[in-house]
Amino acid sequence: MSKKRGKRVGILTSGGDAPGMNAAVRAVFRRVKDLDPHNEVVLFKEGLNGLAGRLEVNYLGNIEREAIRGIIHKGGTFIGTGRIPELKPAPPGCEDVALWERKRKEITDVAVVNLRQLGLDSVVVVGGDGSFNGMSHIIAAYEERYGEPLGLVGLPGTIDNDIWGTEDTIGFDTALNNSVAALRNLRDTIESHRRCAILELMGNSSGWIALAAGIAGGATTIMIPERPESYDLQLVLARVRAAVRLAYRSIIIVMAEGVKKASGRPRVAEELRALIEGDPEIIDALGRPLETRINIIGYIARGGSPSARDNLIASQLGCAAADLALSDVAHAPMMVGTQGASVVLVPMREVIARSPRLVEASSPLWATAESLLVSADQSF
Ligand code: F6P
Repeated sequence: MSKKRGKRVGILTSGGDAPGMNAAVRAVFRRVKDLDPHNEVVLFKEGLNGLAGRLEVNYLGNIEREAIRGIIHKGGTFIGTGRIPELKPAPPGCEDVALWERKRKEITDVAVVNLRQLGLDSVVVVGGDGSFNGMSHIIAAYEERYGEPLGLVGLPGTIDNDIWGTEDTIGFDTALNNSVAALRNLRDTIESHRRCAILELMGNSSGWIALAAGIAGGATTIMIPERPESYDLQLVLARVRAAVRLAYRSIIIVMAEGVKKASGRPRVAEELRALIEGDPEIIDALGRPLETRINIIGYIARGGSPSARDNLIASQLGCAAADLALSDVAHAPMMVGTQGASVVLVPMREVIARSPRLVEASSPLWATAESLLVSADQSF
């Protein structure tokens, strides 16, 4: 008698790795098998590069429990990740659009054939809006070529917390905790010398990590790409002067990496340092220049063991993604996200169109920051 086969679900992690991705993969696997042990799970290695690469070296077929044992506590993604910029339409200013489009088609064709060869019923992708975009493009090409639907479910996995349609992304909480830990370490040394520090944090075009870490870590001021007044250097200097007047021994300016692009000044931190160190008012108050150090946390905030919260969100969303991936109802590509304590389904088309989710002027977190940061005219 031939062995009964259930449904076959493929999983990949894509884009920047994020702590909690392992818990998400584990949850999808366990739920898929829990619902019917005849169901099968296939893992793609190296993200979209694996899906669109040489299949024989890039996938783990019909995995068993042992394949994902002991991964929940680890940072990064144990199956690897990657980006394929050419899966997007040619960017403005591209020198050879025809070549770009040819490459895009070649990559898409390989991915589509690989998916067909594996006989998948659905694919779950853990990543950001760029990965959702790339996967949606591949799935649309698959359906056009074979005239059959192929399910696609997205799980928001990025430290940036900038995906529209979900309040949480897998990885943000860990990166936030790592950033606050770095800020606390920095404070010890800055305070000892009575210095100033500019701490650059990741976040791509959004300021969520900087904003949340700056508030939770008690920064003097925060610069984020969404709020031009936050990176007006004269306004920042005025806050630093106020902190000097208030006799702070440590002055910490948290800056999101996206400020460099938003302000059009790739060396904005260096410019700010020169302004602070050369400011006559501060020199007069201290009797010396305020030494200013620049620190970039970079990838250190992205690595490390996932926080309990990230693993919890990843586990909840992973189960919901498995349910959707196995549902009999044919559906358009969807993302599984959070709204308050609830798990919600959001059409991926909408997520892609409205991402990145940025910090709006009306954001309650921004209002909190404005009340708590050192103001230029601090009256108490
Ligand atoms: O999207 C996550 C992120 O860590 C961003 O904060 C950062 O801008 C980017 O990825 C860095 O990407 P890469 O790993 O390709 O250098």
